[in-house]
Amino acid sequence: MSTHNVWTHKGTFLLAAVGSAVGLGNLWRFPYLAGENGGGAFILIYGLTIFAVGIPILIAETMLGRASRQSPIMGMRHLTKTHDTSRAWETIGWLGAVSAFLILSFYSVIAGWAIHYTWQMLTGSLAGADAETIGAGFDALLASPGLLTLYHTLFIIASGLIVGLGIHRGIENSLRIMMPALFAILLVVLAYGIANGDFAAAASFLFTFNIADLSLEGWLEAMGQSFFTLSLGMGAIMAYGAYMSGEASLTRTAFAIAVVDTAVAMIAGLAIFSLVFGAGLDAGQGPGLMFVTLPLAFAEMPFGALIGGVFFILVLGAAISSSISLIEPVAAYLVERFDLTRPQAVTLMVVASWTLGLLTVVSFNLWAEGTIFHALFGRSAFGFIELLTNIFMPLGGLMIALFAGWALTHSEVMKEMRTSEGWFATWRFLVRFVAPAAVAFVFLRSIPQIEGYLIPTIGALVIVGAFAAGRTFLADASREQ
Ligand code: PFF
Repeated sequence: MSTHNVWTHKGTFLLAAVGSAVGLGNLWRFPYLAGENGGGAFILIYGLTIFAVGIPILIAETMLGRASRQSPIMGMRHLTKTHDTSRAWETIGWLGAVSAFLILSFYSVIAGWAIHYTWQMLTGSLAGADAETIGAGFDALLASPGLLTLYHTLFIIASGLIVGLGIHRGIENSLRIMMPALFAILLVVLAYGIANGDFAAAASFLFTFNIADLSLEGWLEAMGQSFFTLSLGMGAIMAYGAYMSGEASLTRTAFAIAVVDTAVAMIAGLAIFSLVFGAGLDAGQGPGLMFVTLPLAFAEMPFGALIGGVFFILVLGAAISSSISLIEPVAAYLVERFDLTRPQAVTLMVVASWTLGLLTVVSFNLWAEGTIFHALFGRSAFGFIELLTNIFMPLGGLMIALFAGWALTHSEVMKEMRTSEGWFATWRFLVRFVAPAAVAFVFLRSIPQIEGYLIPTIGALVIVGAFAAGRTFLADASREQ
């Protein structure tokens, strides 16, 4: 059992959690969502959610990991026993494990695209290319199941190798080298963007807060993104928290993670939009922003191929430091529960997630339309898996907030949190009321996406879930003294 495994240094949890948080969400998703949703207004909502909802849940999730010192599934089982609460809270662990497995399956495919672009940039294939050529190149990549599978395989094997080597030799050692390198590259790309692009336009785009620009959809996207970017509700932070030093401060660490993660998203946004506007291109290109618009900007600039290549290496590194945090919670569970060796557990998780990832691969080509997923759920297999994670992620966050806020008592929390009564009261107010309200709001986002057979299925689940949750919740909330 890895119950008393602890990171080598007091600060390693921070490093690992930042590694998990900073990823495709910051470099790829945040800029294109901000681009599509009018820039500054989006960022305002995103930032508010990070601080009012993200940080309190981050504290709660880390606390549950550290208090249990086990993988999320076994850890929640342990906590419900020692704290004498309903076993229904174990769902938190299961939901996390399932979400991690689902997310890894498509995260790896998309991260794989960055392998392709690193290669294309460094070999100079895109130098001087025009918009049509670069757009056609991206379409050709997506149309090729073979290439997508190749990159997906390479990426997931690299991630599996790191986790397979263990939390010290694999995860800690690789992060210790990778994270500083990533920050250095980010700053180089920013400097390059300032020198060659239109920094003023980027800054005014990102920091002009005109809240009227934001649609309801934009609000919800911003809040959903703030969960995704902090890796919340998926067991990743809980699994890393299980190895956190007992001396480190929960509150200070959570603040630091959120601040660094937000700073990286902003710097990436400034760098990318400087280049995009500098090249006279459009910010609202959606998911193709990083893979079509940005390569086009690099293609026109001095040393663009080199800096572009380095930029995609940054994307890859950031994605790997996140994907390993998706493998860890499930692998740790398999080791604890079934006595597997770590390499066996990692292999199992990676092979299963890789196989599921093939559905994402074919969603861009062979199965782009006319499949059973389209018939039943009105979307591709990838769209369906993504929708599931969009539901599970806030749900996990909500349950963590409710468990920590209502089921645990003042003294149980204080034992881990060791903070002033004032901070405690603020935190508790946020996890008890603000976070659940915000999550309910994020769920609204999934509703218009629910159609066909999903309506009765989800409807039935919601009714049963609400009933069970209501009973559990009332029983456990009454432990409060
Ligand atoms: N936070 C990561 C990102 O922004 O790319 C994505 C992620 C990693 C989500 C790990 C969830 C997770 F458990």
